[in-house]
Amino acid sequence: MKDLLGLRETDAERIQSILATTAEMKKILNQNVKKTNHLSNKSVATLFYENSTRTRTSFEIAARFMGAVLSSISVAQSSVQKGETLIDTGKTLDALCTDVVIMRHNVSGAPHFLAKNIKASVINGGDGMNEHPTQALLDIFTIKEEKKELKGLKVAIIGDVKHSRVARSNIWGMTKLGANVTVCAPHTLLPQYIEMTKARVTTNADKAVDGADVVVALRLQSERMKAGLIPSLSEYNELYGINEKRLLRAEKNVMIMHPGPMNRGVEINGDVADAHNSFIERQVTNGVAVRMAVLFLLTRSERGD
Ligand code: CP
Repeated sequence: MKDLLGLRETDAERIQSILATTAEMKKILNQNVKKTNHLSNKSVATLFYENSTRTRTSFEIAARFMGAVLSSISVAQSSVQKGETLIDTGKTLDALCTDVVIMRHNVSGAPHFLAKNIKASVINGGDGMNEHPTQALLDIFTIKEEKKELKGLKVAIIGDVKHSRVARSNIWGMTKLGANVTVCAPHTLLPQYIEMTKARVTTNADKAVDGADVVVALRLQSERMKAGLIPSLSEYNELYGINEKRLLRAEKNVMIMHPGPMNRGVEINGDVADAHNSFIERQVTNGVAVRMAVLFLLTRSERGD
């Protein structure tokens, strides 16, 4: 495996292998001294053309914990602003002996294009409305930690499914591991690709939550909307927001998840986000372990281990 670009093209066996390695990395995270030499002599670069808090920081923390040399390229201050192309930026990173490039871009497919044109491994940190594989892996890992298996679980993914690369990666990953995934959004926020997947679809949030073991709330991505796709935020919250009343329909031990960043009072109410069964902070912590695992596995194959 040279690159990690999406879960659509990643089979269940490989997903399970990444999850097993993540469990080992989580043990390191729980130690007092969070240091390994898994990436000593490796060079890792983050190349983010879009804003990020969680993904970028957790990749950078993961690389540092594992002893890598880390370059954090801020696109706003880089030669991209002088007209440098994506390929030339990638080739420059190759010439600087970079082993792994972690990239986020607002264009779907940009990391795939880069991966075809450079020697370094490329990890997709989110591309347009396409995929965000490490977010889905950390979501799946968090569910497995709590529920042991994905197989047979009822997972409801509710919100702006159309614009969500997290939803897309989660649908591919979770259904491959045997979860029963239901996606829920108003008609205007449902993507066409959903018909190609094994996910069930509803526009009724109460029905989506009925008997759910896991509820994943998605942010309303107004920055990707060309026109008003919802009548008002308050009506959206009423019909699709995750609140205590709606959650009474779910299983007693339902897990509440959100990939972040959250809009409290829109797709999720504050009391639910902070409740005892909210796993939102655990998701962030597990993000570091997943990213350590992915960095290790990609550079391991390069070393021929
Ligand atoms: N979940 C996620 O991708 O968050 P960031 O945009 O903060 O990286």
